[in-house]
Order: sequence, then structure tokens, then C-alpha cells
Amino acid sequence: MNTILIGLQWGDEGKGKVIDVLSRDVHCVVRYQGGNNAGHTVVVNGASFVFHLLPSGVLHPGKICVIGNGVVVDPQVLLAELDVLKKKGIEVRDRLRVSEQAHVIFPYHKILDGLRERKRSNKIGTTGRGIGPCYSDKAARCGIRMGDLLNSRMLREKLLDNLNEKNEIFKKVFRHPGFSFEALFDEYLSYGRKLKGSVCDTAALLNERIDKGESILFEGAQGTFLDIDFGTYPFVTSSNAVSAGACTGTGVAPTKIDRVVGVVKAYTTRVGEGPFVTEFPKSLDEEIRCKGQEFGATTGRPRRCGWFDAVMVRRAVMINGVDSLAMMKLDVLDQMKTIKVCVAYKYKGKVFRTFPNDLDAMQKARPVFEVFSGWQKNTEAIRSYKDLPQEAKDYIRVIEDLCRAPVNLVSVGSSREATLSKP
Ligand code: GDP
Ligand code: IMO
Ligand code: MG
Repeated sequence: MNTILIGLQWGDEGKGKVIDVLSRDVHCVVRYQGGNNAGHTVVVNGASFVFHLLPSGVLHPGKICVIGNGVVVDPQVLLAELDVLKKKGIEVRDRLRVSEQAHVIFPYHKILDGLRERKRSNKIGTTGRGIGPCYSDKAARCGIRMGDLLNSRMLREKLLDNLNEKNEIFKKVFRHPGFSFEALFDEYLSYGRKLKGSVCDTAALLNERIDKGESILFEGAQGTFLDIDFGTYPFVTSSNAVSAGACTGTGVAPTKIDRVVGVVKAYTTRVGEGPFVTEFPKSLDEEIRCKGQEFGATTGRPRRCGWFDAVMVRRAVMINGVDSLAMMKLDVLDQMKTIKVCVAYKYKGKVFRTFPNDLDAMQKARPVFEVFSGWQKNTEAIRSYKDLPQEAKDYIRVIEDLCRAPVNLVSVGSSREATLSKP
């Protein structure tokens, strides 16, 4: 069974937790897009791990962990992540595979991310990890790939070309001194030496494993509305976070995919700038942020919070071909007297039930809410779906109906145990 798991909102839906839970039953877990802008949290026996590049299935011994060609890799961050795990007694090197075709993030990408953001009038609120500039180089055909770090002649040629152009831009456009070739060349060759044993043709590896009957779990990063094509452009990331990205980002064909699982929070959050139709007023925003510990796992920024938006998620179910939903953080709504769900948007006096692609409409649309009774009982200790309060089950049913997909998994806490399968 080959499964793609993606977020259906603006990221941070709880993908890391679901990947960890589903990883038990697969052979390989694969990241297919994004980079270390992602922060995926897994909590095991009270210990919290945050993964930025390594797939979140890595805590299960023996699972093959793959970083696919669609990912942009900061090798310094990858090595640091491996080191942290090693110090905790978790050895990953033998089971890590990194695509030789994955593009590499260099310091000039990170600096450019910040400099470009500073010049924009409409700030995106990037994580500043160099993601956008690295994907820009990939599209401009001047990117440097993981395989190039293993070939000093190739690396020299490509890095010289890049610095030739980029140093002029740094100096003339941004008044930045630019980068020295020698220091970068030595640093990145040394990353190549350190990662050599893991860099390979991961498309061939994954397809061989599928042919042998092994199962693969594809781990999406970010969320559908941060996708470069289907998100709230330009307030998005620079890759295809939607399910289709799993195929181009790994070299596994669509015909090999068996199911798509969409992850949603029981409410909505967003980090960074951009439209957010169901955003809470300030007091409720702070209350839910505090209850849900809604602070970015990568940058620590406070996440903006709002009600569940069924208009968005219904579109995400369609774009991703979602078979079933995992609903996370239901416990965060435990004490609410009433709970709202956005069922439509109002824009220029008209009511819309479909998500608009026009930025002006996204920014000016007002939510049309339906209001439901809360359950006002603690759910965190519940371990079986049947024991959930009736109002919570009703809320889940409403979301299934509005989003046109069944909920198969409900989460009421960050631990593995707080995971309920829904019959
Ligand atoms: P991801 O980027 O989609 O993997 O999500 P993040 O890890 O950035 O953010 C999700 C946060 O919610 C993490 O701190 C998780 O430990 C936490 N979490 C996941 N599921 C639940 C849940 O059901 N209840 C609560 N209270 N926290 C959860
Ligand atoms: P996970 O995988 C939430 C947001 C940033 C910013 C925009 C562009 O943990 O769900 P970028 O650095 O990619 O150029 O930033 O996207 N963003 C995320 N928000 N979760 C993420 O990842 C995110 N990755 C990027 O805040 O608004
Ligand atoms: Mg996250």
C-alpha cells in the first residue's frame, strides 16, 4: 500500500504525528518537496522531536528514510539533524537515502531570501531558510544538486558560474559584499564527503522496492494552500505540496499510488502573511494559540488561528484526490461553548461555496458560519472513538459532509496513544 499524506490547510496540521503513526506499517518513508522550512513534530514517551528534513518516520527502527529529488537540501541542517538523533542513540545513516537530483541550498540562497523579503512591499513572511531562491535556481537551470557535491570538477564549474552572476547582483542590487568561492567550495565538498554513503538514485530505489511489494509512505510538507500553484499565491512556498508533487518529487508514477490521506486541524492556523478568511478576533486567537501551543516548529513565530474553513478544505480534498481525512487537535476545542464552521464566503454581496483563486476575493471575502454546540468535556484521555462526546462526533460528521471525505483518524493529544481510529 503506497500512501501520500498531505496537509489540507496552511501547514502545521499535525502531519508529523500521523506520519509517525502510519510509519509502523510501511517499509520506506519519503519526503518529496520543500526543505527545512518544514517543522514536523513527533512526541514519543513524552519526548518531543522536531524534524525539518528527515522524514518523520525515522524514529521507527529499520525504516528506510528517503529525501526525494523534489526536496531542497541544506546539507548543514541535514548533518545537524543526524547528529542530534545520534546523540539520543538513534542511528539513521545506514537507512538514509538522499536523491542525487535534489537541489542544494547554499548560504547565498538564505541571504537572498531575507534581502528579497526586505525589498518587497507585500511581505510573504518566509522562514528565511533559502527555499524560494533555491527553487528559483532549479527553474532557472543554474541549481547545484546533491550529486554535484560528490564531483569536485562539476561543483567548481557550477559554483563559479553561480557566484559570477550572483555576486554582481548582491553588490549592485543589495549592497551586500557577496561570497568567496574558495570557502564555499571547500565547505560544500566536505558536506559531499560526509553524505556520500547516502546519496543515490532514489527514484530507482523506490521503484525497485515497490516492485518487491514493499510499501511507501510519502510525507508532504507545508499544506495545500501553501502550494505554489494551488495556494494563496503569492503568499505560498515555492514547491508543489499537493499530492501530485509526490510523483514528480520522487519519480514514482501516479499508477503506483494507492491512497491519499489528508490531514486537517479541527480549526485552522497559518504562520506568516496572507489572506485568512476565518481568522479569529484577537481574544479568541490568543486563547486557542495558548491551548493549542500554536507556535511555529521552525521559527517559533506565533501562528494565526481561526475557525475550520470547509470551503478551503473541500477544495483541497478535490485537488489532492483525498480518500480519507485525519482530524487533529480536536482536544484544543474541548472547552468551547459554541464552535463555528465556515460553510461559504460572502464577497461583493454574493455568496460563494467554492474557494476563489483571485487574491482580492481571498482578502476581502467574509465567512458565512454555521454554529454548533461544543462538548465542554476533556477528550485528551479518551482512547476509543466511541467514547467521544456526542457533540464531538456530530462536529466530525458535519466536517465529513461539508468536505466530502470520511474521517478515519481522530487525534486528541500529541502522543501516539492519543490517536483514535474511526470506524
Ligand atoms: P506538521 O508541520 O503538520 O507536522 O505539524 P507541527 O508539528 O508543526 O504542529 C503540530 C503540533 O501539534 C505539534 O506540536 C504536535 O505535537 C501537536 N499535535 C499533534 N496532534 C495533536 C493533537 O491531537 N492535540 C494536541 N493538543 N496537539 C497535537
Ligand atoms: P510544515 O511542513 C507552516 C510558510 C511560511 C511563509 C510561507 C513561505 O511544518 O507544515 P518559505 O520559507 O517556504 O518561503 O515560506 O510558507 N511556511 C510554513 N507554514 N508550516 C510549514 O511547514 C511551512 N513552511 C513554510 O511561514 O508564510
Ligand atoms: Mg510544522
